[in-house]
Parts: sequence; structure tokens; C-alpha cells
Amino acid sequence: MTEPTAALTAREPALHAPLIARLRAIVGHAHVLTDPDVRRSYEVDWTGRFRGEASAVVRPASADEVVEILRACHEVRVPVVPQGGNTGLVGGGVPVGEGVGAIVLSLLRLDQLEPVDQSSGQVTVGAGVTLAALQRGVRAAGWDFGVDLGARDSATIGGMIATNAGGLRLLRYGGMRQQVIGVEAVLADGRRMARLGGLLKDNTGYDLAGLVTGSEGTLAVVTRARLRLVVPQPARAVAVVGLRDVASAVQAIAGFRAILPALDAAEVFFADGLRLVCERCSTRMPFSTDAQVYVLLETADGPGAPDPGETLSEAIASIGSSVVDVVDAVVATEPAARSELWRLREAHTEAVNALGAEIGRPHKLDVTLPAARIPEFVERVRGVVASIAPTARLVLFGHLADGNLHVNVLGPAPDDEEVDDAVLRLVVELDGSISAEHGIGRAKRRWLGLDRGPVALATMQAIRDAFDPQGILNPGVLLPA
Ligand code: FAD
Ligand code: MLT
Ligand code: ZN
Repeated sequence: MTEPTAALTAREPALHAPLIARLRAIVGHAHVLTDPDVRRSYEVDWTGRFRGEASAVVRPASADEVVEILRACHEVRVPVVPQGGNTGLVGGGVPVGEGVGAIVLSLLRLDQLEPVDQSSGQVTVGAGVTLAALQRGVRAAGWDFGVDLGARDSATIGGMIATNAGGLRLLRYGGMRQQVIGVEAVLADGRRMARLGGLLKDNTGYDLAGLVTGSEGTLAVVTRARLRLVVPQPARAVAVVGLRDVASAVQAIAGFRAILPALDAAEVFFADGLRLVCERCSTRMPFSTDAQVYVLLETADGPGAPDPGETLSEAIASIGSSVVDVVDAVVATEPAARSELWRLREAHTEAVNALGAEIGRPHKLDVTLPAARIPEFVERVRGVVASIAPTARLVLFGHLADGNLHVNVLGPAPDDEEVDDAVLRLVVELDGSISAEHGIGRAKRRWLGLDRGPVALATMQAIRDAFDPQGILNPGVLLPA
């Protein structure tokens, strides 16, 4: 196997000049960005914690151009960092660390949305199509897409496949891996593989699309995907339910799942996070009673279903009388009122970032725990963070039905990983996973072995070497050094 050479850095422009000229010949002068001011937004991640430097940002308009770009970079062994909407939260899409001096390959111009295949309920889309554009397109054709998330206006389908994004409706439809039927992808040396025929039953060897899903740009560049669509469920109701503590929230969710077959989402946030959201994002408290923990529920049913607001209110009353004490609850069925309740949960990310700009960029630790360990985790994580960084702010929220908590720690310097280490060790001790839905990226690669163990790690490295022997695709992401 050939050893990868060190990345050419941005401080060695003479070495890059022939490559830059070749890239300009492939995509056109206007789509190779070398001016530092123009490159800047591609070089820093959404949280501001990961900031690097690229030699150039290259913006292909087709899979053929991606093939040519990768061939050119591979020949001179210049690393490539694939990037979609740059909403990733683990530093995987920006040229940091081993990625410094890389070519950032922006896939945003691969934005072709093909017509929905009505007979199969599937659609083929370019990697650069945003989630919101996909939603608009398929809803206009009478369908919906199973994955939804707050970054929908910017996150791309290619990035969502690369991170195996989870989101707000995983409970009902699964994450990206469950929606991807096939992909077209380009390997590091420019070879292309595609399986976009939409066959649901296809047991012809290894599931390469499944492998590329969640590979965070380290195995191949996704250029197109064939996606499964779902039947729209327009009869919706949303509730925010106030509870005394997180143990009650876990019990309540189990109860709601048993009696609400149309449950689409079951999210959690806490009183301190809600206060932050109200301060930063012009939102209002849902009710005046003091609750420590809030659960947001959404049900979604077909057009003929009984009144969704009544069904949800009855379920809350039933859980309140038989399972846990409900402090207070509010239910909404009209679109504007439902959005207002959703905003209380979705705006946590934006509120945390706004506070982070003042007191220290957030360390975003997205983890999963078995349901039974969540109350213990929530109690212990507060103590762990307070003992290591007494002045840090801790904001917790997440997708409770999936056991997925977002642990946001604000205060420690971007490269101070002491709190990260203690929190992730606690997660592993409690049989959880160090990444639920955001991926490993650059932020958590140090701890991948702790979570997965040496055999899984060696197998992953062998897969990576088989796809990309020279290691030019996203070096420094996912696998430990
Ligand atoms: P980028 O950030 O550009 O890239 C992410 C990773 O994918 C990088 O490693 C990059 O190299 C790789 N990549 C990108 N495109 C390609 C491609 N075409 N081929 C190969 N590799 C590629 N995530 C969730 O899972 N659930 C949520 O609920 C959720 N909510 C969010 C809310 C907000 C407000 C924000 C800012 C983020 C949220 N995220 C969530 C995180 C983020 O939106 C997802 O990780 C998303 O999948 C990233 O898509 P992107 O196009 O922005 O990818
Ligand atoms: C969310 O669930 O809101 C996202 O995963 C983003 C975040 O963790 O901030
Ligand atoms: Zn999330």
C-alpha cells in the first residue's frame, strides 16, 4: 500500500499552481475560489469551533466534473474535503488539521431534483439538493421525505447521507440509511460507481450504498442518490408537556409510544435551555407553570383520522393519570401554533451558538444512551462538567425517544478536550454511543476506539484503505490518527 504523502499546504502555492490551472480547466475560472476572503465561509464550520485553510474551493456542476477533479487531485496526492451545506457539527467538512491545504470540494451545484417516480414512490436527486428543496419538490408531487431536521434550508442530501443524519422523525421513519436505496459515488481516484435503479430487493453482495452512508466523506464523494419517499400525514398535532424530572420524561415517552401509533416525534428540553431560547430567539414560555423538563410530541395521521388535537390531549390526560405527574401541557393543531411550539425545541441550536459567540464556542457532544440510563446520565453529566469546568454552561436537549441527547458545553477553549473526554467516557461507561447522529468528524475521532474497540477500528481502517489507499479523501476525519 502506498503511504499517503503530507498535504501540500496553502503556504506552498507554487506547488499548487499546475493543479489549480487544471481545476480551472475542468470547472471554469469562476468556480475555483482562491481569494482568502471568498474562501472564508467554506473554511469555518457552523459553530465557529473548527477553522482552517484550504488551497482552493472547487465547485463542480456535474458528476463528470467531480470525476475529473478527483483524478487530478489523486495524481498529485492533494487531499480533498467534500462539503455540502456546511451545517455539520463535528468539523468534518472543513479543512482543519490534516485537511489544511486541501481542496474543498463544494457539491452545492449538483442540485438537480428529478421528477418523482410515482410508481415506486422514489426520487433521484443530486448531492447538492438541500433538504428543504427536496421537501418542496416531493410534497408538490404528493409525497413526503422521512427525515427532517432544523438545518433543512442549508443541509444537503449528500451531506445528510455522508453523516447518516437522524433528525426529528427517526422514531417513525428511521434515519438517512433507511431512506437511501442507491447512490452514485466517485472514488478517490476518480472511478465512479452507481446503482440508482431503485430495486428494493437487491442482495448482490456488499451493501456499498449503506457503507458510503455515514462514511463522512472518507470513502467516496456522493454525487447522486435514489431515495425512498413516504406517504404524507397531514393531520398533525403538537404538544409541549411539562414534567418534574427526566425520569418522568423517559417513563412518559414509553407510555405515549404505547398509546399513540401516529407518534412522529418525541423530543426533550430542559428549563435552563428553554430560558436561553426565550432570551435569544424571541420565543415565549409555553405556559406559566414551572416544569424542570419539557417533552415535545408530534402526531401525524392520514386525512380521515379522528381529531388529532383531541386524540393527543386525551393521551396526555391518560399518561398524567396513570404514569407520571404532568405539570402542565399545551396542544396545538393549527400550522402557526404548531410551528411556535416546534421553535421552542429547534431554536436551541441557534441559541447555543449565539451564547457560544460570547462565552466560548460550543463543544457539541451528541450521544445516545439506553433509555433506562438517561436519568443517571443527566444527573452525572452535570456533576462531571461542573467539576472540570465550573464556569462552563451546559445545555442539554435532544431526541428523547431515540435515547439521543445533545450535550452542549460552552466555555472551554476550542482545543481544550478535557470535558469532552470525561463526558464521552461517562457515555461509554453507561453503555451508550459517543455519536448518535452527527458523526465522528474531527471532534470525536480520538474516542472512536474507546467506543468501538480495536477489532472494529481495524476493520474500518481496512475498508478505508480499500476505497482510498492513498488516504486523500477527508484525512483526519472519523478514523483516529
Ligand atoms: P456538511 O456539513 O457540508 O458535511 C458533513 C460531512 O459530510 C463532512 O464530513 C463532509 O466531508 C461530508 N460530505 C458532505 N457532502 C458530501 C458528499 N456529497 N459526499 C461525501 N461526503 C460529503 N443533524 C442530525 O443528524 N439531526 C438533526 O436534527 C440536526 N439538526 C441540525 C440543526 C441545525 C440548526 C444545524 C446547524 C445542524 C443540524 N444537524 C443535524 C447537523 C447537520 O445538519 C447534519 O449533519 C447534515 O447531515 C449535514 O449536511 P451538510 O450538507 O451541511 O454537510
Ligand atoms: C438538533 O437536534 O437540534 C440538532 O442535532 C442540532 C444540535 O445538536 O444542536
Ligand atoms: Zn439532533
